[in-house]
Amino acid sequence: MTGGPAIQALPGATSATETSAIETRGLSKRFGRQMAVDSIDLSVPRGSVFGFLGPNGCGKTTTIRMLLGLASATNGSITLLGQDIPARLRDVLPGVGALVEGPAFYPFLSGAANLHRLDTADRHAPSATRRQRIHEALDRVGLSHAAGKKVKAYSLGMKQRLGIANALLAPRELLILDEPTNGLDPQGTREVRSLVRSLAAGGTTVFVSSHLLAEVEQICTHAAVMSAGRIVAQGTLSDLRRAGHVQLKVITPDVGAAQGVLARLGLEPAVGRQDGADGQVTAEFPVDAVSPEEIAAALVGGGVRLRGFLVEGSTLEERFVALTGEGFEVEQ
Ligand SMILES: Nc1ncnc2c1ncn2[C@@H]1O[C@H](COP(=O)(O)OP(=O)(O)O)[C@@H](O)[C@H]1O
Ligand SMILES: [Mg+2]
Repeated sequence: MTGGPAIQALPGATSATETSAIETRGLSKRFGRQMAVDSIDLSVPRGSVFGFLGPNGCGKTTTIRMLLGLASATNGSITLLGQDIPARLRDVLPGVGALVEGPAFYPFLSGAANLHRLDTADRHAPSATRRQRIHEALDRVGLSHAAGKKVKAYSLGMKQRLGIANALLAPRELLILDEPTNGLDPQGTREVRSLVRSLAAGGTTVFVSSHLLAEVEQICTHAAVMSAGRIVAQGTLSDLRRAGHVQLKVITPDVGAAQGVLARLGLEPAVGRQDGADGQVTAEFPVDAVSPEEIAAALVGGGVRLRGFLVEGSTLEERFVALTGEGFEVEQ
């Protein structure tokens, strides 16, 4: 790095920007009176597959456009690969591959010829290695067999993979993909998801937006959940799962004994409605406090006759619905 006073880092010390592929602080975008992106602090670790998850209209594309310098921020700061955006955009962009709202391809040109045109337009791209890089990128996305085929004969999944091949024409440290499976059929969706996994396995940080929880659960190590322009949760997928609360409901004639067992497990039982001989004992506690299996075993072991046993709210989906106030499309 050049410029600024030389600061000697302590051995072993790493700053957030060295370990992060993307950092934003208070990043905001206003359209008229609407805060499309409202003061978000993203922290995307290098090497992660980071899901940017939220329902349509929550501000994902607007954020991605700001990250790539395609739109200006109303407020806040962005660091990409340790460099300030937009100030250092020109230095950073060669290391970043992006797919935003599908690139425009010429339908009457082949996939390879389209990549050739796009690569020629990139002033950072060395012409000497162009053929080789195009060949490798097409191979990477599994389109070698269709390299000479006109794009108008491509399926949607193939077009999307060609878009990703375009993002891969140079070695990238970071890939930013805006809803790469949108509009794809199940086969195309599987192809793109497995491609994202294999790119990540090769060490590239992948930042991928999606409105599908199931997709993020399948391919991501980390996620941020967006709702109406704000980040409502962020972390590793297991952190996000653990952060949830579960509701336990026990139906039993042995209300007192059930309360005693639950209290011994460190839970705080409450006694609910009585229905004939049966009573209800409920408790709410963090997901990782104690497993449903342990609770059921302890109740039975403690002589509690179980007539009903229900644990709710422990799935990521229920948590996200609670966070965003919206259902997610259920799709595999
Ligand atoms: N150029 C624009 N002018 C005005 N409003 C916009 C513009 N782009 C996006 N928006 C609004 O900002 C909000 C977030 O949009 P967007 O970032 O596209 O969401 P997502 O990608 O999550 O579906 C939406 O309400 C959208 O209508
Ligand atoms: Mg979008």
